[in-house]
Amino acid sequence: MINKIQQLTLEIEQLQLTNETELENYRLEYLSKKGKIGALMDDFRTVPNEQKKEVGALINVLKTKAQELFDVAKENLENTVDVTTNVDYTRSVAEHQVGARHPLSIVRNEILDVFNRIGFNVSDGPEVEDDWHNFSALNFPPEHPARDMQDTFFIKDAPNMALRTHTSSIQVRVMEGGQLPIRTISPGRVYRNEAVSARAHCQFHQVEGLYIDKGVSFADLKQTLLYFSKELYGTNTKIRLRPSYFPFTEPSMEMDISCPFCAAKGCNICKGTGWVEILGCGMVDPQVLDNCGIDSKVYSGFAFGMGIERITMLKYQVNDLRLFFENDVRFINQFKNA
Ligand code: PHE
Repeated sequence: MINKIQQLTLEIEQLQLTNETELENYRLEYLSKKGKIGALMDDFRTVPNEQKKEVGALINVLKTKAQELFDVAKENLENTVDVTTNVDYTRSVAEHQVGARHPLSIVRNEILDVFNRIGFNVSDGPEVEDDWHNFSALNFPPEHPARDMQDTFFIKDAPNMALRTHTSSIQVRVMEGGQLPIRTISPGRVYRNEAVSARAHCQFHQVEGLYIDKGVSFADLKQTLLYFSKELYGTNTKIRLRPSYFPFTEPSMEMDISCPFCAAKGCNICKGTGWVEILGCGMVDPQVLDNCGIDSKVYSGFAFGMGIERITMLKYQVNDLRLFFENDVRFINQFKNA
């Protein structure tokens, strides 16, 4: 009898109860009234009286152990997902989330494309710039208001350094590189110390262009910008140049295009004028050429610069500049098919 109990104990200890069928078979074979442990109770009656106490205790230990094994195995089974039965193979797969290109990237690439087609290459430069490349080489006199703390983020403990306020700084670097002629456009992020609002931000993006060769004239500037405007806003687009001032160009101009929304009839975007301003431009001041080691008696050139945000707002009728920097996917996803 004692042997039998030990035998059964060994037997149940070696069992593997890893699924519901095994568990149920175990219950029937060992735990039910007609099971192997139940049968022990029948045998128990034949045990001589003086052994009953000892054998009874052993049977109880076995019974408890057998029940425990059952309980633990049952709980484990309930906590594990049975991958062979609980997966719904008919469910459609989760689609890949395809993002959208940022509208500023879309428009920047479009601008670069338009100029690449007429032989402009792309140049790049640092966002933390020294005074020379951002200001002095470009004829900003020492007292010019753009150097003021109001407009420029200076670098603490580095009095000569600032976050670039325009990508004209890249053009200085290209001119200093000394390879002529130059036909380049410089896209990049720029910084100005402005209060953030729907119309102004302390960071924005520019594309600036520079063309330097022998005999480059004002007519070349006009033709290039007319071509650009027609490519970007449609072949009916007209341009208008208004006199302006930049320290690095002479003469300097601001350029308007005929309003692309109302065919120049006057609407709230062009404030009834039929024209919207899109860029600044001019003939490179000979002094700037000389500053950068280019002989201004032999070479001449033009430059222009525009804010990508402004061009994008006009193209897609976005009315708040801050949307470009908030990375709200509800905004960006609207440009999926742009
Ligand atoms: N750098 C000027 C700006 O940031 C734009 C510009 C570039 C004007 C080239 C004229 C020529 O406003």
